[in-house]
Amino acid sequence: MKNCNSILLFSLAGQAIGSPLLPRKDGVDVKHVAVFSIDGLHNSDIDKWLALGPSNISKLLGTGYRYTNAWATFPSDSFPGTLAPYTGATPRTTGVWYDDIWDRSFFAPGSGLVYDEGVDVDSTKLFTTIDPAKLPQALIKGQCTNIYPHMRPRVNTAFEVVVGKGLKTAYTDKHPSYDLVRGPSGKGLSTGYFPEIASTAGGVDATTAYDQLHVNAWLNWIEGKDIANAEGSLGGKVPTLFGGNFQAVSVGQKTAGYVKGSLAFTDGLKKAIKFVDDSLGLIIKKLEDKDMLTKTMIVIAPKHGQSPINPDKFGEVDPKLVTAATGVPVVWQTSDSIALIFLKDQKDLAKAVAGLQSQATALKISDIIYGDRLIKEFGDPSKDPAVPDIVVAPIPGIIYSTSKKKISEHGGLSEEDRHVGVLVSHPKLKKAVFEDKVFTTQVAPTILEALDLEAEELVGVKAEGTKALPGFDD
Ligand SMILES: *[C@@H]1O[C@H](CO)[C@@H](O)[C@H](O)[C@H]1NC(C)=O
Repeated sequence: MKNCNSILLFSLAGQAIGSPLLPRKDGVDVKHVAVFSIDGLHNSDIDKWLALGPSNISKLLGTGYRYTNAWATFPSDSFPGTLAPYTGATPRTTGVWYDDIWDRSFFAPGSGLVYDEGVDVDSTKLFTTIDPAKLPQALIKGQCTNIYPHMRPRVNTAFEVVVGKGLKTAYTDKHPSYDLVRGPSGKGLSTGYFPEIASTAGGVDATTAYDQLHVNAWLNWIEGKDIANAEGSLGGKVPTLFGGNFQAVSVGQKTAGYVKGSLAFTDGLKKAIKFVDDSLGLIIKKLEDKDMLTKTMIVIAPKHGQSPINPDKFGEVDPKLVTAATGVPVVWQTSDSIALIFLKDQKDLAKAVAGLQSQATALKISDIIYGDRLIKEFGDPSKDPAVPDIVVAPIPGIIYSTSKKKISEHGGLSEEDRHVGVLVSHPKLKKAVFEDKVFTTQVAPTILEALDLEAEELVGVKAEGTKALPGFDD
């Protein structure tokens, strides 16, 4: 993981090479870890934001480690992006490729495995729950069983590890289906707060108002208080591990984006980032007031980036044309800044790939991943029912969509989809910048080790050999 660059930067920052992580061994006890995803936030967005003047993010970085070459999962969809920092694993291990996908071992005729607002009792209501009748099913011990989102990951989450020690956990995100982070046991969260974002108007203003609900939850949790309309309870205790997401920046990118030419933030996007920064300020202030700041490690780990940054690179291709180009029956296709194709008959692979290749220019395809390369990098579709047969990557900036509402999207494997802004802050850390390539999966062992728990209790960390982030990796 380390390279010469990082060692140089690390020593320049005034810490001995190989000096162990802050907390435990330096006598600083981390009692709480707060993990926030600023959905969509690129590493380059942090540079642009810092250039605009002092902020709460610059304050966090004043005693924090910044990772300037941090990558979200592939696919860079919200579901695998959410699981990465809590499982330490990528889709080949978690089995969770997308919120909206296929799995050959599931029964969800026609509609795929849709784990967004589509499984709500009523997605027009801010507070709703999962409707079991809308869930896909699978055979478990011969029984047809509803598969709740938390039953999807094949490996446990950091929330489950923490709860297993009798400690409290709390998480907030945009749909009830973020039940996902509870992990396979279903028990990972002491409390979960899932207002339905699909019930809101969209746009930056409605989304900051929505995100404020998450902020209110965090501010309550820091006081050990439950928030109304949440599932479960903290029982009066401050959570050891808590987190959630901000949606406003992602919506700002999709609707307002970056200025043509300069690639500066548009006013809409700047407003969204300012809201997030101010919210982080409120959290820092609350932690200070409660005398908790020196006991809390704050992590920013976005689920995904967004593509394109440059509006000149934006383009759309109708996903139906991609399906049609295969020339064979397709059972499912997930389409965003990527197309993930599941064939009805896997024997059609060569024909489907040839069809796609023959129309690569019209479909603005930059890469088709299948066969040995797919197996090596992402898993074997002939053995693993969750792995698509073909991954189609468009030229960066192209989205497989006909939506007229957005100017960027995520999900794919391009740099702008995945090169995100990651930092870890604690009052006792000496400011440092790490330039070596890291992944958001590395947040998971970093969380557990900071809490003096065993990172190897995470099955995904063991399976993928995931190391804590540089600076925390002894
Ligand atoms: C930080 O957050 C606080 C609270 O929202 C806000 O008042 C302040 O302007 C923000 N920025 C800086 C530089 O502290």
